Amino acid sequence: MDEDKDQQEISIRSQLTLPCGASVKNRLCKAAMTEGLADSANRATGRHGRLYRRWAEGGAGLLLTGNVQVDRRYLERAGNIVIDGPQDASQVGALEAMAEAGTSGDTQLWMQISHAGRQTPALIASEPVGPSDIGVALPGGRFGKPRALTGDEIRNVIARFAFAAGIAKQTGFTGVQVHSAHGYLLSEFLSPRVNQRDDEWGGSLENRARLLLECVRAVRKEVGADFAVAVKLNSADFQKGGFSFEDCLRVIEMLNQEGLDLLEISGGNYEQPREAYFFDYAVKASQVATMPLMVTGGFRSAAGMNDALAGGDVDMIGLGRPLCTDPDFPAKIMRGDLDVAPDVESALRVGPGILGPHSPIAMIKAINGFARIGWFYEQIYRLADGLPPDLSMTALRALIAYEKTEKRKARELER
Ligand SMILES: Cc1cc2nc3c(=O)[nH]c(=O)nc-3n(C[C@H](O)[C@H](O)[C@H](O)COP(=O)(O)O)c2cc1C
Repeated sequence: MDEDKDQQEISIRSQLTLPCGASVKNRLCKAAMTEGLADSANRATGRHGRLYRRWAEGGAGLLLTGNVQVDRRYLERAGNIVIDGPQDASQVGALEAMAEAGTSGDTQLWMQISHAGRQTPALIASEPVGPSDIGVALPGGRFGKPRALTGDEIRNVIARFAFAAGIAKQTGFTGVQVHSAHGYLLSEFLSPRVNQRDDEWGGSLENRARLLLECVRAVRKEVGADFAVAVKLNSADFQKGGFSFEDCLRVIEMLNQEGLDLLEISGGNYEQPREAYFFDYAVKASQVATMPLMVTGGFRSAAGMNDALAGGDVDMIGLGRPLCTDPDFPAKIMRGDLDVAPDVESALRVGPGILGPHSPIAMIKAINGFARIGWFYEQIYRLADGLPPDLSMTALRALIAYEKTEKRKARELER
């Protein structure tokens, strides 16, 4: 009896068959993490190939790429890969090599496709675009005031998502994920706080969700029924007047009609970065969702992941930061060699007390946030260069490197 139960219980090592027919060899996914490795023409490079081979060796059944942009005018970061027009031989070759590396060992490699919207750094665009002209409320002038997209431009965004998905399929990726979380363009449209349009793209939730749904439909049409299509969605923005969890549940009901292979539940945005613990939301979401569900944010222990899966509410676990500090983390926890990801919190503080991440001074808090991001970026660079992670790196060093590299890359961009 117990043996039967053991055999049936889903664990991190269980295989998963997706609605499109594809099979994922286990329940662990490397969540999307921006790499910043593209060249000055925003093409993939050999470093992408090395990085994704390393992560494929690490054992996760599914790897999601960092956000690949559908419009070079509005990047999340200067080093993003962009797919927004004719692809030259260098780009196609590097994407094919990246796909080959990331699918090695029977791993699924899905390209996350995105438009940065109003969260395009001012270094890239002084006037980004969004659903309305409402800017990101963060100190330090990192983001310019956006202008509202026109109806024709919105239609064009949909075509861009479909085009990028088609290139992902042609170059050997095994799926795509439409990024509709974390305050980028598609989640901006979902938010009543950021989207104050009064046309068919704003107002009611049906209208605010129209852009996401049309992007998903156009992508599916482009790639066909037997290719994985996923969406990353915020459980909520955690902002007054923003996208709420009730909205999220209704958007999931709308997405139920779209034949998705996986829905990833996450949360927050730049204005409201959260230590992301979205499991309770995912459990409630599973009561309405008909597609497989993944939850990402805060998972660090094998026991926590197995418990989440055994409950049957979620089908996959997304892991971000642990894959920067130990690329073999999935293999190690599946083998039982390791129970918990390394704790790096103390390395991530710029300073003690009021100089730290919980500072009452908004600017210092923001600086800590950027140092933290920079620290993980530096680890990703190291993996891409064939080096091991450096857990002794200080947040201050990471912050300086991050500021310098991002500025240089933005200056060097070929437009
Ligand atoms: C360095 C870094 C880069 C990230 N880049 C992306 C991205 O390109 N797209 C995305 O959807 N999420 C991105 N995220 C968020 C992660 O996918 C994930 O949702 C988040 O890190 C929470 O999971 P964790 O607690 O396991 O790290 C990034 C996170 C980190 C740490």
